[in-house]
Amino acid sequence: MTQATVLSGIRATGKLHFGNFMGAVTHFVRFQKPENLCMYFVADLHTLTTSRDPEALRGNVLEIVKDYLAAGLDPDQAIIYTQSSVPEISQLSLLLSMVQPLGQLEGLATIKELLGKTTRDQQTLGLVTYPVLMAADILGPQATIVPVGEDQRPNVELARDLADRFNHRYGSTFVLPEMMDESQMVKVPGLRGGKMGKSEGDDTIDINDSMFNIGERYRKRAVTDPQRVRATDPGDPERCQAVYPLHKLITSDHLEIAEQCRKAQIGCTACKGRLVDSIASVLEPFQERRAELAGQDDYVRDVLYEGGRRARNIISRTLEDVQSKMGLVIY
Ligand code: TRP
Ligand code: SF4
Repeated sequence: MTQATVLSGIRATGKLHFGNFMGAVTHFVRFQKPENLCMYFVADLHTLTTSRDPEALRGNVLEIVKDYLAAGLDPDQAIIYTQSSVPEISQLSLLLSMVQPLGQLEGLATIKELLGKTTRDQQTLGLVTYPVLMAADILGPQATIVPVGEDQRPNVELARDLADRFNHRYGSTFVLPEMMDESQMVKVPGLRGGKMGKSEGDDTIDINDSMFNIGERYRKRAVTDPQRVRATDPGDPERCQAVYPLHKLITSDHLEIAEQCRKAQIGCTACKGRLVDSIASVLEPFQERRAELAGQDDYVRDVLYEGGRRARNIISRTLEDVQSKMGLVIY
C-alpha cells in the first residue's frame, strides 16, 4: 500500500552544489522505500522564468539528472522526469490559474523576492504565475509530502490553499500536501556562513569539483570564528561561520572537535582539513558513480522517457477529474 506520495523538483539553472546535495537530494533518497510513491523531476519550465539560454537548458537538464542518479535516485524506485514532458502539468496549471486569486500572488514572499531581483523587462507573466505552476506540479500527482527547503514554504502553502479552494468550490478533488518535518531540514552553510548559495558570488562547493580544489577553497575562503585570531586563542564553535556548522551535519566526532576548539587544541587549518575529510567521505562515492554516467546521455534519456510516461499516466487522471468537475468536455 502506498503510504506517502513524495514529490519534489529542482530547477535546471546550473550545477547542483553541496547545499542542494545535502539539503535536498539526500532527503529524496531517504524517502525511496517500497511503501512510498516518489516523484522527482527537473523543473525545466520553471527554469524558463529566469533563463534564456536554450543550449544551456538542454545541457543542464541531463547534467542534473546524472547528479540525481549518482546521488542514489533509482529509476526502479522513483519516477524521474522532466516537467515539460508531462504537458498535463501545464494544462492543470492553466485550470488552477482560474481559481487562484491575483492578490494573493502579488503579496507572496517568494514572488516579491523574484520581482525585487529582476528588472521591469524581466518581469514576465510566467514569473508571477510561478507558484501556480508549482501547485500543478504538486497537486497533479496528489503529493502528500513535498521535501523542500524552508524558503519554499510560501509556495507549498499556496498549493495547499489552492487545493482547499478548489475542493470547496468543485467538491473533494485534491489531497492537501505537507512540507517535510522541520526537524529534518538541514541548512548547509556556504563558505561565508549563512545558507550555501544564498549569498552573492563565490560561496558554494561544486559537488563534482576535485577534493583538492574543495580543500583549497575551504583553506583560503571559509570563514571561521572571526574573534579567533591566532591558533593559540581559544575559539567558539558557535561563532564559527562556515566550518563548525558543517562538521555538526557530517562529522561524527564533531563534539570532540568543538571541545578542542574551545581549548585551542586544534587550529582552524587542521579543523578545516578534518572537515574536508568528512566531505570526501560523502562525495567520493558520489563522484565515482557520477564519472561512470558522464558519457551515458542515452541511458539518461531512456530514464526520462520512461519517467515521463509513468508521470503522464498518473497526472492525466487528476487532469481529467479537474476538467470534468469544471465542466470541460474534451471532444
Ligand atoms: N521552486 C522550487 C525551487 O526553486 C522548485 C520546484 C518547482 C519545486 N516545482 C516544484 C519543488 C514542486 C517542489 C515541488 O527550489
Ligand atoms: Fe571553527 Fe574549527 Fe576554527 Fe573552531 S577550530 S573556529 S570550529 S574552524
